[in-house]
Amino acid sequence: MALKKLLIIANLVLSVFVSSAQNAVINILDSGRKTSIRGLSVVDDDIIWASGSSGTVARSVDGGKTFEWLTVPGYEKRDFRDIEAFDKNTAIIMGIAEPAVILKTKDGGKNWYKVFEDTTKGMFLDAMDFADEKNGVVIGDPVVDFPNKIYRAYTHDGGENWSHPLDDGKFIDHTATGEAMFASSGTNLIFIKAGNTFTKNKMLIVTGGLSSNIISQNPLKKTALPLLQGKESTGANSIATYNGDTYVIVGGDFANDKNADSNCVILKVNKTYTFLLPTTPPHGYRSCVEYITKDKLITCGTSGVDISNDGGMNWELISNKSFHVCQKAKKGNKVFLAGSNGKIGMLTMP
Ligand SMILES: *[C@@H]1O[C@H](CO)[C@@H](O)[C@H](O)[C@H]1NC(C)=O
Ligand SMILES: *[C@@H]1O[C@H](CO)[C@@H](O)[C@H](O)[C@H]1NC(C)=O
Ligand SMILES: *[C@@H]1O[C@H](CO)[C@@H](O)[C@H](O)[C@H]1NC(C)=O
Repeated sequence: MALKKLLIIANLVLSVFVSSAQNAVINILDSGRKTSIRGLSVVDDDIIWASGSSGTVARSVDGGKTFEWLTVPGYEKRDFRDIEAFDKNTAIIMGIAEPAVILKTKDGGKNWYKVFEDTTKGMFLDAMDFADEKNGVVIGDPVVDFPNKIYRAYTHDGGENWSHPLDDGKFIDHTATGEAMFASSGTNLIFIKAGNTFTKNKMLIVTGGLSSNIISQNPLKKTALPLLQGKESTGANSIATYNGDTYVIVGGDFANDKNADSNCVILKVNKTYTFLLPTTPPHGYRSCVEYITKDKLITCGTSGVDISNDGGMNWELISNKSFHVCQKAKKGNKVFLAGSNGKIGMLTMP
């Protein structure tokens, strides 16, 4: 009798588990274009902006039913690896290298103007993050003339002007030799506004390469991550938080994207850092992670998409399709994904 009851319960648990796997699906909204998308910014459930290689930007104002595609004139060969959108008319895009540029539009993408340029040799921008509509930061890899220093520039007028604070320094000592940031999804940093001056702001950056660390500003702290590292293609790619005291970090080896070794870690932050390793990690290299609710997360990479319903402890593969980036609406509930060949998808949950 007791055994039978147990079996019934086991069956119930199993069927709940299976049905959640069967019902979370990704619908492809657009694809088949010659651009690799790594920048994605979802303003609300209707307004979606994406950016990628070949100077490409896409915008939807109807929840992804239709996308307008454009090539930014004069920047046809540039790779816009990150985008931050504020509304249906306003967005800024980050062109990674030589020269590194940031462009802004205020008319829905019809016209773009340059708000930032740096011609430093070897310059490679990785990601931008905004604490609110005004305050943001862009980070870049260490360059030859300033080895082991993370490049950073700040804005506090929604990207109109960018500068580096004198008391911070344009380049600060941080990374080790062979350590840098991946420009894979624009999500390897979190910028938190914590005062009215640059130096009060808090920031968390995750790195990869020969070593993989989490670097914090305010307080200044560098901590090794228990993630795959030691090669150019390995390390942390993305960090997300729900409430500022729990974080999920994903990565792995982009050159071996089915490898699921040490590709995810949960970080609890109070006075000290406590790392928790998932029981069932995501099923391969992952370039982006995002919270959907406090306990529900999505992560994606070139070898597929996983969902967790328990804060990142157990991950379930819901698609084998390749995506670089996934983002939830900043003011809304919808979740979109984007990747190579101009692929844009939307998550549908039970
Ligand atoms: C910010 O940029 C705008 C437009 O380029 C310019 O007119 C303004 O003077 C700049 N403000 C500062 C404080 O640099
Ligand atoms: C800090 O967080 C860890 C992990 O959640 C917990 O075990 C520890 O008790 C916390 N410490 C304090 C001082 O809250
Ligand atoms: C992913 O591919 C594997 C191997 O081909 C297959 O067994 C699995 O069912 C696929 N998963 C999904 C969610 O499509």
